[in-house]
Amino acid sequence: MTFAISGDSYDRFMGRYSWELAQRLIDFAGLEECMRALDVGCGPGALAVALADRLGAPSVAAADPAEPLVTACADRVPGADVRLAPAEQLPWPDDSFDAVLSQLVLNFVRDGDAAVTEMGRVVRPEGVVASCTWDYADGMRMLRTFWDAVLELDPLAPDESGMRYCSEEELASLWERGALNDVATGPLEVEVEYDSFDDFWEPFMLGVGPAGAYCASLDPERRDALRDGCFSRLGSPAGSFSLTARAFAVRGAR
Ligand SMILES: C[S@@+](CC[C@H](N)C(=O)[O-])C[C@H]1O[C@@H](n2cnc3c(N)ncnc32)[C@H](O)[C@@H]1O
Repeated sequence: MTFAISGDSYDRFMGRYSWELAQRLIDFAGLEECMRALDVGCGPGALAVALADRLGAPSVAAADPAEPLVTACADRVPGADVRLAPAEQLPWPDDSFDAVLSQLVLNFVRDGDAAVTEMGRVVRPEGVVASCTWDYADGMRMLRTFWDAVLELDPLAPDESGMRYCSEEELASLWERGALNDVATGPLEVEVEYDSFDDFWEPFMLGVGPAGAYCASLDPERRDALRDGCFSRLGSPAGSFSLTARAFAVRGAR
């Protein structure tokens, strides 16, 4: 389990992208005041926080199967209903929410079809179910830079671009199989600033997600070679720089 990590480690690595992405996903889903919303696979809570800002914490629920991340989310969104649970078995009754969202999660769940069926079960009729996943193959510069540098040194490495549900076509088809209507997809783009190359590189050492797990498997010599590969692919930055990241989003109505 590559998400058995602290909320702080997650935030330094990926969470820095999640805050801005959450605003884009909420807008894409078309949330309105007075809705009740669920964040599935909440991690330490960037989307749950954004939902609470718009809807009020008592109208927000969140779930994740990683205990330290659920604890971090509950601390961040006091008053929200935060539970330890996977997307495939959500612990809420039918029709509990007006909107069910998940951000950067579907490619990690064991059974995507079961997850979407569950999200559709807990949303009310005509409620919205929306998700997004990174465009690992191309538009997520941080991970693309990392995996391109990895593949140059280790062509058989498990590049994340092979993950499921990371294209608009796959997401639309997953939503249609989940009996959701009026399915629409689109790109969501964010930009993140790094203070320095170390600010980019050091979070890879925290063991977060597949990239962190891969780094942890390397001996110091190979890790240094990978660091050099990333540095040159980023143009050998001497100071701060920013990277863009594109996710693909999908929404549908029950
Ligand atoms: C990349 S993180 C995204 C976290 C958060 N949604 C965000 O936007 O920052 C992936 C999350 O999916 C969670 N996850 C993994 N398997 C899951 C499952 N079967 N059901 C729900 N969440 C799952 C992980 O624990 C982790 O918190």
